[in-house]
Order: sequence, then C-alpha cells, then structure tokens
Amino acid sequence: MDISKHLNSEELNTKDKQPLYLQIALLIADKIQKQILPSGTKLPPERELADLFAVSRTTAINAYRKLEQQGLVWTKVGSGTYVAQARDAESLFEVPWPQLFTAYPQNPLASILRDIVSTPAPGTISLAPGMPDPALYPMETFTELFNHNIGRTPPSDFGYIPIEGYNPLRRAIAAMLSEKGISASTENIITLSGSQQGLYLLSKVLLEPGDYVVMEASTFIGAIQVFQSAGARILSLPCSEKLSLELLEDYLIRYRPKLLYMIPTYQNPTGRVMPAHERQNLIKLAKHHRLVIVEDDPYSDLYYGEQPPQALKALDSYGGVVYLGTFSKILFPGLRTGYLAGPPVLINRLALEKQLIDLHSNNIAQWLMAMFLNEGKLAGHLTTVRREYKKRRDTMAKALRRLCANDIEFNVPEGGFYFWCKLKQSGTSQQLLQEAVKNRISFVPGEAFHTVPTLDNEFRLCFTTHNEAVLLESVQRLAKTFAQLTKKNRANDAPPSSVWPII
Ligand SMILES: Cc1ncc(COP(=O)(O)O)c(C=O)c1O
Repeated sequence: MDISKHLNSEELNTKDKQPLYLQIALLIADKIQKQILPSGTKLPPERELADLFAVSRTTAINAYRKLEQQGLVWTKVGSGTYVAQARDAESLFEVPWPQLFTAYPQNPLASILRDIVSTPAPGTISLAPGMPDPALYPMETFTELFNHNIGRTPPSDFGYIPIEGYNPLRRAIAAMLSEKGISASTENIITLSGSQQGLYLLSKVLLEPGDYVVMEASTFIGAIQVFQSAGARILSLPCSEKLSLELLEDYLIRYRPKLLYMIPTYQNPTGRVMPAHERQNLIKLAKHHRLVIVEDDPYSDLYYGEQPPQALKALDSYGGVVYLGTFSKILFPGLRTGYLAGPPVLINRLALEKQLIDLHSNNIAQWLMAMFLNEGKLAGHLTTVRREYKKRRDTMAKALRRLCANDIEFNVPEGGFYFWCKLKQSGTSQQLLQEAVKNRISFVPGEAFHTVPTLDNEFRLCFTTHNEAVLLESVQRLAKTFAQLTKKNRANDAPPSSVWPII
C-alpha cells in the first residue's frame, strides 16, 4: 500500500506554535483512527517520513515515538514501524500508563540501541555489554565463605543496618583505599547497590534542572543518562588525546558547573589513561575553583602492564573529589555492590537520599564482600583476571590488525575492558552495526557515548566477556561485514553517503 499519498506535508502549519513532530503525530493518529491507515500497515521509514514532510530525521523519530507512547504504532527492530491493532471496546478502559509517566528525557536512539545491543539474535556474539567473563567469577570462594561463616555470624547482621552500609565492609573498603593512597576511614564511605546508584544519588543531592555538568566526550552512557534526567546541561570536554584544561577553565569561569564527571583510568569507552602530570594539573585547577570532581573508577585494578597513576582522590588536597568504586567489573555485576568515598557531610546527605530508595543495600552481598576482602581473597583473583584478560586483549588486537587493518584504527588499551575503534572509510558505526548484526556480531556504536545525538564513526568492543576462540570468531565476523560493505559500496558505484539510515 502506498501510503505516502495519505501523508501530505501541506497539512502541516509551520506558523503554528505546536511543534512539527506533534502535528505529524496527530495527522497520522487521525488517519489511523479513521482507518485510512488500518492496523498492520507499514509506515514509511523515519528518513522517508522526514522527506515526505520536509522535516529533520529527529522530528520524524519524535513523531513515531509519540505515536508509540499512545499505543497507536509499534516498532519492530530491523523491520520498521507498523500501525498497531485497533483497540476493542474493553481496552478503552485500560489505564493509559504511558500518559501517566513523568517526563523521561531520553535520546530517541537509546531505546533502539538497547534493543539491538541487549537482545541479540541467537548465535550472536555480543561485544556490547561491559561484562567480566562469568567463567571467571570466583563462585567457589564465595560458596566457601558463605558455608563456613553463615553459622558464625550474628543473625542481627541480616536485619536492618545503617543506611551508610554494613560496617565491616565500610571498614574493609576504607583499608583497601588507604593502600591505594586514598586516605579514608569508615565515616568517609557509603556502600551502594552498584556505583550506578552513586551517580544517581549524587545527581539527586547536587543537581537542579539547568545546572551545568562537565563530562568527557565520549563517556559512560549510564552517567549521561543520570545527569540528563536530573535536567543538567552537559558541557563536553573532548579528551581523546589530552585533557584541555584551558577549555575546562573556560567552562568554570563562564558556566560555574556543579561538577566534573571523569573516568581517569581506562576510560569507558576510549580506554584512555590520564597521565600523572595531567591529574596534578587538574587537581590544581579544580582546587582553585573549588570544583567538585566525581571520579568514577571501576577499572583501575585491571591493568595489563604497568600500574596506572594514582587516583585523583589520592591527590585531593581540598576535599572536592568524590570517588566511586565498584566490585562489578573486578568480581561480578550481580553482587550489586559499589561504594562512594567522600567527606562525611556528603556521606550523611547521600544516606538521607538513599533511605528514600532502598533503606540500605543488600546485607548478604555486603557481608560476603567484607569477608572476601578481609580474608585477602581479592589480590589472588585480580592476578587471575589480569592474566586472562591480558591474553584476550592481545589475541583480539592481533586479530583486528590482521583482518581489519584496512577498515579501522584503534589503540591497544593498557587496561580495562574495551577497544575503541575508528572507521577509516567514511560512514557511521550505526551502519556498520546494521550490517554486523546480520553476521551475528554486535557492539556499541560511538554515538551511545555522546551527550547529543551525533553520527559517529567510532565504536566500542568489549574483549573481556568471551574466551579467545570466541573473540577470534567475532573478529572474523567483523572482517566479513567490512568486506560485504566494501562490495556493496563499490556496486553502488557512488560515494557512500555521510548520513546513513538508523536501524
Ligand atoms: C564507568 C562506569 N561507571 C559505572 C558503571 C556501573 O557499574 P555498577 O555495576 O557498579 O553499577 C559502569 C558499568 O559499565 C561503568 O563503566
């Protein structure tokens, strides 16, 4: 069915105050309600819709999102947007949940990315999530700790405990940080249900809508989402090569940002390590401006050569660095145990906020973690995972060099989880992903790590989740994808467009 004749750009009123995306959504909704567009009808792809109405792609995407929220259309990943089933009389009395929800600022691509990345087709090798290898989780040690100690622990340890966390774990974390040069005692620590919760709590206690936050470009998507949903305005600090302190100072003077969020060691996604002198200069500048720095540090124990420089928190001479740590990457994410180190005044305020969410984090995980640390089990485990991940990194780097050298460039990360790759030819990583999923390989395209929607030619591969054989297979599939794309572009005999469809 050619439905373009039913969608007429002349019906839009550009002088109307109503945004264009809403006008388009209303127009389509009207045709659906009048059954001009019956259920099951495939609607034009976003790009075509944009052309039909002479609007931007973002406007078209937003129009479809609006219709989706109203339950009038649905999107099938990789296939398109369809008119939903007509509602029967009963369903008219259903609670219109989506309309009750509070506003949720979200990059329109985020849900699409989530579909592609988190629900891969069977047989797909996903290099997308930042996951340690489940085969390396120290389950035996945790089982022994549990069995040996469950009868010796007072049951009251499993009742309600202080919001700030299980004290033996807080003490053990403070001792662990002290060994890394970070001076901390129990009252400086709050345990968390993952460091993601720390980001959320910080946003709740520090940010008002309209506040400025400085972030590296690119950076961790979970942090972007938290700060954006707090209504913060994001200032980007490009630092793939070197941190620009001049630009940061300009931001500090011009915008008085509430905080700077950084991952100084084995950054996610770029893998970059901030050199020691840069750390010192940053602290000097931050101290001068009394800038709060949120240092997110999930990866620094995962070094595959030399140890990285000391954490920013270890250099903190003005009490402005808030340190976030987690056991998700070095042990396993299901522990949901992270922690934050900061001044007691901040810990107290965070505890009040945490009380509203979960009263305190899970005692059993905290109890197990306290024993794991106190019995000195972490060092041995880290030696094992570092050895294994180093092998995987080297195998993958070699395979990428051998099979994809004409297509991508990348730096070999000195630690952490990720290869950050850049396409050599024109084109976006979105298009690459679209082709790659057909070859049952997936990864995260670079635009997911940006604060504003951008068409990006970078992408992230996680090398820790799978063993070397699977990693080799994944690079072969990637190389096959590049070969197919090259052939396709040649066949088209036209230069590849720089604006490619979003799947
Ligand atoms: C930089 C960074 N911060 C925080 C997190 C979240 O970790 P957690 O599992 O402790 O919530 C991740 C996970 O990918 C991360 O990469």
